[in-house]
Amino acid sequence: MIPGKRMPLLTLNTVLGLILLSVVAIGIFFLPPLDGGVRLAAFGLSVLLVIVLVLRDRTERRKSAEDVARLAAIVNSAEDAIITKTLDGTIQTWNRGAERLFGYSADEVVGQSVQIIYPPERRDEFEQILARVKRGEAAGPVDTIRVAKDGRRIDVSISENLIRDAHGRTIGVSKIVRDATERKRAEQAAHFLAEVSEVLASSLDYETTLASIARLAVPRIADWCAVHVKMEDGTIQQLVLTHVDPAQVELARELQRRYLEDPKVPYSVSNVIRTGKPELAPPFADESIAPAHDAKALTIPLDSQLKALMVVPLIAPAEIFGAIMFVSAGSGRHYGPADLALAQDLAHRAALAVDNARLYHKAQSLNEELDLRVAQRTLELANSNRELATEIAEHQGANEQLRLLAAHLLSAREEERIAIAREIHDEIGTLMTAIKMDLAFLNKQMNGSGPPKPPEILREEINATMKLVDDAIRTVHEIALELRPAVLDHLGLRAALEWQLQEFQARTNIECRFQSDLDVFHLDAERSTAVFRILQETLTNVARHAHATRVEANLREQDHHLILEVRDNGQGISAEQIANTQRFGLLGMQERAHIFGGDVVIRGAPGQGTTVTVRIPTLS
Ligand SMILES: Nc1ncnc2c1ncn2[C@@H]1O[C@H](COP(=O)(O)OP(=O)(O)OP(=O)(O)O)[C@@H](O)[C@H]1O
Ligand SMILES: [Mg+2]
Repeated sequence: MIPGKRMPLLTLNTVLGLILLSVVAIGIFFLPPLDGGVRLAAFGLSVLLVIVLVLRDRTERRKSAEDVARLAAIVNSAEDAIITKTLDGTIQTWNRGAERLFGYSADEVVGQSVQIIYPPERRDEFEQILARVKRGEAAGPVDTIRVAKDGRRIDVSISENLIRDAHGRTIGVSKIVRDATERKRAEQAAHFLAEVSEVLASSLDYETTLASIARLAVPRIADWCAVHVKMEDGTIQQLVLTHVDPAQVELARELQRRYLEDPKVPYSVSNVIRTGKPELAPPFADESIAPAHDAKALTIPLDSQLKALMVVPLIAPAEIFGAIMFVSAGSGRHYGPADLALAQDLAHRAALAVDNARLYHKAQSLNEELDLRVAQRTLELANSNRELATEIAEHQGANEQLRLLAAHLLSAREEERIAIAREIHDEIGTLMTAIKMDLAFLNKQMNGSGPPKPPEILREEINATMKLVDDAIRTVHEIALELRPAVLDHLGLRAALEWQLQEFQARTNIECRFQSDLDVFHLDAERSTAVFRILQETLTNVARHAHATRVEANLREQDHHLILEVRDNGQGISAEQIANTQRFGLLGMQERAHIFGGDVVIRGAPGQGTTVTVRIPTLS
């Protein structure tokens, strides 16, 4: 407040003017040369001047008092603290803004040194200002800290101006002190949040992200900070607890367990996670957090550990997944709505970072899955490619085999024709020649053109000729059999096979056994011929390669298939011999079976005999 000073009755100028006038008036009154009328007039004029002077002085003084009052009103209505002080720092005026900011009334501080509002560690600022004022320099707005009556430190911005008298001499200093608490807080918050964003962006790991939140918050906005998350089973787990003093972590945990976990308490973590609403705990009074019945609680120095508390939820787009608890302890910090807003901003950024991390991991695992699938598919394709290549190679091999087989069959047929021609020529031709010579001899005898022979000789000759005819018939029969086993037509397959085996036994002296439970059995002519020829080739092989002493054959029907199994007790056959494509016996057997959708399986091992199994589908 501007203190009201008592005004002097007349100003110095007016008093001096009055004295001068009085001297002039006395002079006029007492000087002898003037006559009485003039003297009286001069005296009256002087008195008039005195009256004018006094009146003018009063008017001016009233005006200046009004000016002062107006100025005082302006100064008092200012938001800022406006203080004037003498050159040595003694406070002269102290407006209402100063009373509000520092808590001292004008009466308390006017006349005292302005050092009353300096924090002890900033006393040198006072000396610097004194020196500057002495040099006649003013100071622009400077950010600093001052102390209020209750000891609170206040961020302020101060501008100082010099007060000069009419002669330009510095006679004092006026200072405007602006409360910078809010601006400072906003600046710090912005700076803090920028740092938070940077730290959060540096990790894509969910736990690292949340742990870094606690590290950033302590000691900047809390003395200890705990982050809790909701697990998949709904339970709440503490992920991290950071304390400005690591030795106090256990104590903080204990406090939390005792006073902050009850879900009924609004500022408990579980309640905040449930409601999703941030909570600012009311100021803690010791008795409210130290229930009387809990004797042990009293041993904890609560007032130093739990001054203020706020809990904010961690909200991802889809759900509330945790909460952060900020606690003020040793620093004595109080939390207000601005702090809660900052904490919420922090939690919001953390939740975003965690959600980003989650999305990143999801994308990454999807990528990995995709890579895996692509790799699998590539492998599958490579495999089927390989299979296809093998199949093509097999086909090519089979084609080559077929080509060779066809060539072989052609030459075999050619050979067969040659053999038949030779047989007809050699056997039948020879026999017919002999028969013709016999008949010519008999003809001569009948015509009586040669020396007559006795009838016994002639009968012998006829018998020999008949035997030749018999031989010819037999040979023709054999050739015909070779071309088409007539036995098949006459006896049917079963009997034909049996007959063939007996033939083989007789020819080779290899003991043959035939066994079949098929009594009446009819297969069409083509299939029967195929089975018969396969048996023939099998027996030929036994005779040529097996060195066997015994052959057992078995004929049966099973699942609409005719099955002929021929087993010898010879030296056996190797896998390479079975796969040999340069030979055509086994290949031909298989080809015959394939024509009817059947197959031939050859099994055996060296020293263990050979088994040939033929399977031909029967007519349904
Ligand atoms: N019963 C068997 N015991 C032992 N080895 C056999 C038997 N049958 C076949 N083999 C072996 O299998 C090979 C292939 O037989 P395959 O009938 O295909 O040809 P081949 O008899 O040698 O000649 P061809 O083409 O004139 O029949 C034979 O060379 C022989 O080494
Ligand atoms: Mg053969």
